[in-house]
Parts: sequence; C-alpha cells; structure tokens
Amino acid sequence: MAIIPNLQGKVALVTGGGRGIGKAITYRLAAAGANVVIASRKMENLEATAREFAALPGKIIPLACHVGRKEQLEHLVEQTETRLGPVDILVNNSATNIGQGPALNTDEDMLDKMIEVNIKSAFRLVRLIVPAMIERKCGGSIINIASVAGLRPQPGGLLYSFTKAGLLMLTRSWAQEFGKYRIRVNAIAPGLIQTDFSEFLWQDETRRRQFEQATPLGRIGQAEEVAGLALYLASDEAAFVTGQVMAVDGGFTAV
Ligand SMILES: NC(=O)c1ccc[n+]([C@@H]2O[C@H](COP(=O)([O-])OP(=O)(O)OC[C@H]3O[C@@H](n4cnc5c(N)ncnc54)[C@H](OP(=O)(O)O)[C@@H]3O)[C@@H](O)[C@H]2O)c1
Repeated sequence: MAIIPNLQGKVALVTGGGRGIGKAITYRLAAAGANVVIASRKMENLEATAREFAALPGKIIPLACHVGRKEQLEHLVEQTETRLGPVDILVNNSATNIGQGPALNTDEDMLDKMIEVNIKSAFRLVRLIVPAMIERKCGGSIINIASVAGLRPQPGGLLYSFTKAGLLMLTRSWAQEFGKYRIRVNAIAPGLIQTDFSEFLWQDETRRRQFEQATPLGRIGQAEEVAGLALYLASDEAAFVTGQVMAVDGGFTAV
C-alpha cells in the first residue's frame, strides 16, 4: 500500500471547490493525481482556482452549478462523466447558512432553501452517481462536509444544525447500505474554520474568543487542516473506514 495517497486515474467531484474548504480539498486531491470537477454558482472563483492549481498532476475542470437545482445537478454529473469519466470520489461540500437568529424568526422559505442546498444536493448527487459506482464494481468514496453544528446545536443556527445533523444520518445510512459494494461514506465535521462562510463568527471578537476558550487547542482552524482528512478518506488508506463522522475542531466537541 502506498504511503502517500495516490489517486492517479481517479475522478473526483467537489461541490463548492472554488474557495474555502472545498478549494483546499481540491488542491489535495489534484496533487495526489485525481482529475477533479469543481462546481458551484460562480464561475469566476472556479476558474481562478483551476488556473491557480493548473500545474498539479490532476486536471481541474470548473463547471457552473447551483446545487439546489435538480436539473443543474443532472447536467453536472452528465458533463463530469463526458469530460472525465465516471465519478470515484464525491465530496458534498457546498452549503448555505441563512436564517441565523432566534428559531421563531426562521420561516418555511428558509427551511426549504436550507434543505435544498445542504441536504437534497447530497441526496440527489448520490442517486445520480452511486448506480454507476455499483455497476463498475470499483468501489468509491463519498465525503460529506457536515459540521460540529450537526453534533451540537449552534446558538441561533437552528436550520444549519438541523440540516447538518440530517447529513450525518444520511452518511451512516448510506454507509450501511453501500458497504457491500465497497463504497465508503464518511462525514467530516469541521469546527470553526477561517473562511468567508464563517466570517460572521470569527470576525466578531466576542464570539471568536468564546470559540477559542471552548477549544482545547485554543484557536480556530484553517481550510487546509480539513483537507488532509478528506484526502485520507478519499484514498485506499481509509479502505476499512466507513460510516464515520470525524471532527476537525481542535478538540471543541471532545470536552
Ligand atoms: N467555515 C466553517 O467554520 C465551517 C465549519 C463547519 C462546517 N463548514 C462547512 O464547510 C463547507 C464549506 O464551507 P466553507 O467554510 O469552505 O465556506 P465558503 O468558503 O463560503 O464556501 C462555500 C462554498 O459553497 C458554495 N455554494 C454555496 N451555495 C451554493 C449553491 N447554492 N450551489 C452551489 N454551490 C454553492 C460556494 O460557491 P458559490 O458561491 O460559487 O456558489 C462556495 O464554494 C460547508 O459545507 C460548510 O457548512 C464550514
């Protein structure tokens, strides 16, 4: 077994691969030799990432896709298969976090949008991609980027916590069912990571300090610190690992 994961010949699809955690994961997968489609709404971020990582061994193809739209997901998978071949590694990373605030201030439109983008996208992509994995009998790795907020309620984050908790149970249920096909399904639960997504938390001095004090390692994390685990889970190094939720949170959920 290789000591450094080798993903040469593998095809990966990373949603939200143009910035933050998804970008860091894209770097690690393409550096290990995988050809990667990165997909999200804004082509300019995706194209900039593809340009920045152009010298890596794996090819990176940017494709526009709103993951909350069923037809766009169908088109994405069709384009991925045409350009690179069937998907071996799926990283469900795109997410949104609207409706921060008191629970009773959240309405049904917010609920629907959070479910569409944070849960249904993964549900739909698995339904679009896994049948070909089963047919090819080559196994596969699905990595769902959840959150510590799916393990503990995030204050003022009812819908975010609810959708991330849902993603965790999808992870375990899929793992149970797809294990016989050597398709592994795992989730990563990041703690507070310094990206655009969580700016409202880490730029607020008080909330940032609260996080740091509640975290044994005493600091917030960086996207690259999540990406190493994704590379491990994508590779054969994790051949006996499935159905797991792994926190990358500086110990936040351990205490
Ligand atoms: N940062 C944290 O503290 C933290 C903690 C725990 C979990 N997470 C999780 O980590 C994942 C990545 O977040 P991040 O921190 O890296 O945030 P980020 O830098 O803001 O990235 C979010 C990504 O999601 C994409 N996205 C958002 N809505 C989309 C949609 N409707 N369709 C397609 N793509 C969409 C964005 O691309 P476009 O704008 O181009 O669509 C962007 O690439 C998320 O699942 C998040 O819940 C983050």
